[in-house]
Amino acid sequence: MSRKILIVGSGAREHAIAAALSRSPQFPTLYVWGSGENPGMRDLAAATRVGSLTDGKAISEWAKSLGVDLAVIGPEAPLEAGVSDALWSVRIPVVGPKKTLARLESSKSFTRDLLMKHGIAYACPQFRRFDSMEGVAGFLSELGDLYVIKADGLMGGKGVKVAGDHLHTHQEALAWCEELIREGGAFVIEEKMIGEEFSLISFCGGSTLCHTPPVQDHKRAFEGDTGPNTGGMGSYSDADHSLPFLSRSDVEAAQAINAQVAEALFSETGERYKGMLYGGFMATANGIKVVEYNARFGDPECENLLTLIESDLVEGFNAVVEDSLNAQTVRFRRKASVCKYAVPEGYPDRPLKGFRFSIERVRSEGLYLGAVDIKDGVLVGTGSRTVAVVCTGNTLAEAEAKAEREICKIEGPLFHRTDVGTEALIARRVEHMRALRG
Ligand code: AMP
Ligand code: GLY
Repeated sequence: MSRKILIVGSGAREHAIAAALSRSPQFPTLYVWGSGENPGMRDLAAATRVGSLTDGKAISEWAKSLGVDLAVIGPEAPLEAGVSDALWSVRIPVVGPKKTLARLESSKSFTRDLLMKHGIAYACPQFRRFDSMEGVAGFLSELGDLYVIKADGLMGGKGVKVAGDHLHTHQEALAWCEELIREGGAFVIEEKMIGEEFSLISFCGGSTLCHTPPVQDHKRAFEGDTGPNTGGMGSYSDADHSLPFLSRSDVEAAQAINAQVAEALFSETGERYKGMLYGGFMATANGIKVVEYNARFGDPECENLLTLIESDLVEGFNAVVEDSLNAQTVRFRRKASVCKYAVPEGYPDRPLKGFRFSIERVRSEGLYLGAVDIKDGVLVGTGSRTVAVVCTGNTLAEAEAKAEREICKIEGPLFHRTDVGTEALIARRVEHMRALRG
């Protein structure tokens, strides 16, 4: 009998998950519970339902009524809300950690404390958690100009302010902390690390892991890493399953940290983390450091990875819930990949909404719809990251040239970063790392 798989979420990341699952030789039947109806996912699914992503009761009831035997949760909000717990409680195995483990993403201080307590302090910047202004000025003085202030909860990437970028004086920093306190929030202040960021995501069964190739995302909205932070404007991965500014030992160090974190989570909570374990790392002059952890696939990193995957994703997800992964369970083609996101004019601050656009002329290996609706057969952008275009090649240059050519064929009021994956941008990253490491 064919597997019945529920996907929770309806963005481009979840479209990529649905597309990879639908290529499985097991021909699973797919169901989607989304916050909107993604037209790309609808074409791949037997049934879709629009509802709250955090309503564990409704989601698990629907899944049970369909006879679903495996669920995959894409975004962070349902993880934080305990949707995984609700599904497991009706005996549906889930790729996506339970609430207590999802604190890895939802609480900055939980993660920093975990690293400190379980022998991973070497990958941690200096940090302190505050829920009042007591001691804040003193700690800022200790850190000087190198500090980062993070609200201690899920803020969709918008709760982080970095000295030099968003905050320019201690006075501004103190005012921001006071605002966070007024809003009732705790926050973490940490040492600002200098280096190059990358994501290393592992399929994680709790005690067994299978690492995916590292990917570099681009969080800033505009060319040359300028403008406001976004969910991610595009990302690339390389054919050798490393990145041009990393050594083999850097990649292995990040993999080892993910494995240590999985163990640490078990010691701390007594529960096995089953899902995608996303380490946000920084390569620095003093080695590989942890910037953050996420409890899910990255978006757009997932779009790169699941365009490159060559093994059966159903098998990979099974091995997650059964905790039976090994280094070979999930395999990726030895190709470079470049993902570019087309986003509405005005994104992220004042994005255009309700505009028509067309992808008819685009020919890319991966073409995933994000904040998109369909009206009278025409695609309509709803005001966030709209279409992820992924191309692969033997080299990054080849993948980038294809992705750039194809994304330009989208017709509509959208823009993208032309520099993601380009030789010039990558040369800057490599030079930055060389200068830091001397
Ligand atoms: P986060 O939500 O923790 O990933 O933070 C968002 C972004 O802020 C990261 O992708 C980094 O670019 C930056 N950031 C966060 N923490 C640090 C840190 N300790 N040092 C330097 N940059 C940081
Ligand atoms: N690519 C950044 C994120 O998924 O959080």
